[in-house]
Order: sequence, then C-alpha cells, then structure tokens
Amino acid sequence: MLEKDIEKILISENEIKAIVERLGKELTDDFHDKFPIFLGLLKGCVPFMADLIKQLDWPLEIAFMNISSYHGGTESSGEVKIDMDLGTPVKNRHVVITEDIVDSGRTIQSVVELLKYRGAKSVSVATLMDKPEGRVLDFTPHYIGKSIPKAFVVGYGLDYQEKYRNLPYVGTLKPKIYMSEE
Ligand code: IMP
Ligand code: MG
Repeated sequence: MLEKDIEKILISENEIKAIVERLGKELTDDFHDKFPIFLGLLKGCVPFMADLIKQLDWPLEIAFMNISSYHGGTESSGEVKIDMDLGTPVKNRHVVITEDIVDSGRTIQSVVELLKYRGAKSVSVATLMDKPEGRVLDFTPHYIGKSIPKAFVVGYGLDYQEKYRNLPYVGTLKPKIYMSEE
C-alpha cells in the first residue's frame, strides 16, 4: 500500500542490511570495552537503532531523546527543543548518538553540545544517512551508513507528515504526494 507512493528506492533492504553490519563492526572495534550509552533520537532512529544494536555482542545501554526543531517563517530557525530528555546520567560515559539522517547538522550539533556540557566522556554520532550538501554547520558524523544527495527521503524511520516510517527501505516520494496534501 505505501509502496505505491514511492518514486524510487534509494537504499534497498539488502543494502541497509550490509550498511548496518559494517557499522556494527566499526562500533565493535571502537566501543566493545567501553559500556557506552546508545542514545537514539526519536522517532526516526527506531528501525536503524533496533537493527544496529542487534549486531553488537557486548555490554551497552540504550536511551532515547525526543528533539524537535523550531521552524520560524520559511526557514528552520536552527533552534531545537527537547520534548523528552534521556533519563540516564551521561557524566563520564561514552555516548553514541544514533540518528536517521544528518542534514543541516543543527539537530545533532545541539545534542552533541548538550551531552558534552553534561560531562559525557565522549560523544560520537552514528547516522544511517548523511546529506552533506544540506550542511549549514561544520559537522561530520563519525559513523556514516550512506551519503545521499539533497533529496527528501522517507522510510526506515524517516517520515513525511508522520507516515512511511515503517517502510523497510529508504526511497523518494512521488511528487503528487506532496502536491495532493498542499
Ligand atoms: P538537521 O537538523 O537539519 O540536520 O535535520 C535532521 C533531522 O531532520 C533528521 O533527524 C530528520 O528528522 C529530519 N530530516 C532531514 N532530512 C530528512 C528527509 O529527507 N526526510 C525525512 N526527514 C528528514
Ligand atoms: Mg530525526
């Protein structure tokens, strides 16, 4: 049913599987003996984080934050608001933020700064996708699943008006989907 709204698949289920396995190996090399906190940014992190942590056969903790960005006028103001904070203290802990996509970099940068301010021992970012062309801040995620062009994508956690998060792959929407809802 949802599939009929998709124009093009950008990252297939098989490719996601390979990406998650590779990131799992990289994270195992770097964190297997550090008992890190995997911090998911809701809601987009859910499928990615669930698959990723299943690749990791060593002690870790999971936690979640819900962040929303303010949009003033036609452009995002860059301010982010914490709708739900994590319940775990991060002081002296290694934190791996798990994000669906990094675009302007504003969301992730503000979370990184907050965790450092709270005394995290290290803060790393693992993102399924990176859109480097959208960047307004100088930020490079430490673990990147795939860099993609500056297109709007849905699926595997990413939404358009809260829909499509449950697709098992990432794709672009048919233009008529945007037009019919405007
Ligand atoms: P940033 O703060 O501009 O880096 O935006 C990152 C957030 O915007 C992500 O966590 C997503 O929730 C959302 N986002 C950015 N690009 C897309 C997209 O192509 N599809 C769906 N959501 C997106
Ligand atoms: Mg998000």
